[in-house]
Amino acid sequence: MAERVDLRGSEQTLLITLFLRERDARSAHPVLGDRFAAEALARVDHDAGALRWFSSDTVTISARARRLDDWARAFLDEHPDGQVLHLGCGLDSRPLRLDRPPGSRWIDVDLPRVADLRRRVYDLPDDVEVVGASVADPSWWERVDTDRPTLALAEGLFMYLPPADVDGVLDRLVAGCAGGVLAFDALSPWVLPVSNAAFGLTSVDTRFTWGLDRDVLRARHPRLRELDDVRVTDLGAQATSGPWHLVYRAFDAVPYLRDAMRLHRYAF
Ligand SMILES: C[S@@+](CC[C@H](N)C(=O)[O-])C[C@H]1O[C@@H](n2cnc3c(N)ncnc32)[C@H](O)[C@@H]1O
Repeated sequence: MAERVDLRGSEQTLLITLFLRERDARSAHPVLGDRFAAEALARVDHDAGALRWFSSDTVTISARARRLDDWARAFLDEHPDGQVLHLGCGLDSRPLRLDRPPGSRWIDVDLPRVADLRRRVYDLPDDVEVVGASVADPSWWERVDTDRPTLALAEGLFMYLPPADVDGVLDRLVAGCAGGVLAFDALSPWVLPVSNAAFGLTSVDTRFTWGLDRDVLRARHPRLRELDDVRVTDLGAQATSGPWHLVYRAFDAVPYLRDAMRLHRYAF
């Protein structure tokens, strides 16, 4: 029986990404193949008609998740004693999708209402810590083991935060932890007003508030060393064949479109 949920503002967007992962998993050629998505989605009452509005993002959102899974695997291979901060985790099954070394640590963080829902929807192993707090709330950071190599994953998160909160998270991570990797997706600043107008046409009541300016990021957080900067349209092209491949390649040829959303990986 699906549970009625009361999700507000950007919390509602976790249903979009979950819906798209479920859609990908039952497609003929899954990109991510999240085998947990269908059951999780079925546990939550949702308006499939409204979510279908976002269907054209299925490949890019799934390819983005797959690349972040790959980066998380690479980090845990290199640091079996490492710690993963899964920021704004929503109802993403990532800790179940990945084989985690026994000496590693995994912390899922999302707003309190979402964290509670996550605990009800997934039967998570005891070694997955679920924290209900804003990522910008300093108190939960006390749980972070600052001496361990740390991977912070922020998928579909930073664009919903006020810029001061993104800086606050990065300050705590980059200045507070001994070393590690930060991986996140980001929108170009020009996308914000366009996408906010599009959000206005849907039933999802939220707005994008942060876009990445790499020069500003570098100046504000000089310890960050860029490892990867990946165009999500390129990930879409790599993941598809036939007409969709041509569509993503066409997007990829147009500077503004190919820069709309990118996936970033930095070491610190
Ligand atoms: C687009 S969803 C992405 C969820 C998940 N990462 C995924 O890919 O399915 C955005 C998520 O960010 C969470 N979020 C928004 N603001 C937050 C904050 N200040 N602290 C923690 N999580 C936040 C929302 O609750 C939601 O789960």
